[in-house]
Amino acid sequence: MDEADWDDVAATFEQEILSVPKHDRRKRIAQCVKKHANPAGTAGDIGCGIGRTIALLAENFGTVHAADISSRCIARAERLNAPYGNVRYHHADLAQPLPFRPVDFALCINVLLTAPRTKRQTMLANLCATVKPGGHLLLVVPALESALYASHRLVQLYESKGMKPAVAQRKAGRDTTRLDMGIVVAGGTPTKHFIKEELADLLLQHGMEAPDIKKIDYPWSFALEEAPYNMAPPLPWNWMAVARKAG
Ligand SMILES: C[S@@+](CC[C@H](N)C(=O)[O-])C[C@H]1O[C@@H](n2cnc3c(N)ncnc32)[C@H](O)[C@@H]1O
Repeated sequence: MDEADWDDVAATFEQEILSVPKHDRRKRIAQCVKKHANPAGTAGDIGCGIGRTIALLAENFGTVHAADISSRCIARAERLNAPYGNVRYHHADLAQPLPFRPVDFALCINVLLTAPRTKRQTMLANLCATVKPGGHLLLVVPALESALYASHRLVQLYESKGMKPAVAQRKAGRDTTRLDMGIVVAGGTPTKHFIKEELADLLLQHGMEAPDIKKIDYPWSFALEEAPYNMAPPLPWNWMAVARKAG
């Protein structure tokens, strides 16, 4: 998805885009932000969308830089967070160095999704470069393990409706053309999914130390269109990594 695609989503963002902070039942994001809170410090919300996490950052840091490639999303974020006077908004592409000084705490939720590998590597490098030495990054990405687990549950769901196993497997089958690269088609869009070890490895390569990686669950309805409203846990999940910038 490019800038124009994200601009198109801006008006219907709440309906179309999974809210990770809203579904974070264990409040891992809020706890992490509060743990690293610094009223004299700076924070970044990178790929902030319509600004769901801006208030949390603005209440815990002296200055917040909110950046997004979509000017329409940024405009909505600014309106929705108007009460917070300590937020600076930037229409910026993470594929380029970000237009503000490195921050103490950077948060980036589900932004490394659709860019090709080389561009995604540049985005990750710029993201890590936006954290001061000794500062922290909170990064949320889609989990490949979760996508495969959802396929398993979908086959079971079909079988429970009386489908023969072979039919259930065929119907639940995904486009696996680039599964080896972690690309899974989600909502019609080829989307990068990460395994836990890959995410840790990438962060270490980009100068981030001691990545602590945990699950953030989200409702079945965002993983499987066919999911009944009461589909049993374990729920699907994103990976949330928290890492410290070396130095
Ligand atoms: C799935 S949404 C997540 C938004 C927000 N982080 C949230 O959790 O609600 C992805 C966001 O990343 C932004 N984005 C995508 N590519 C970007 C890039 N290259 N530079 C900056 N923002 C980007 C999109 O405009 C969109 O707002």
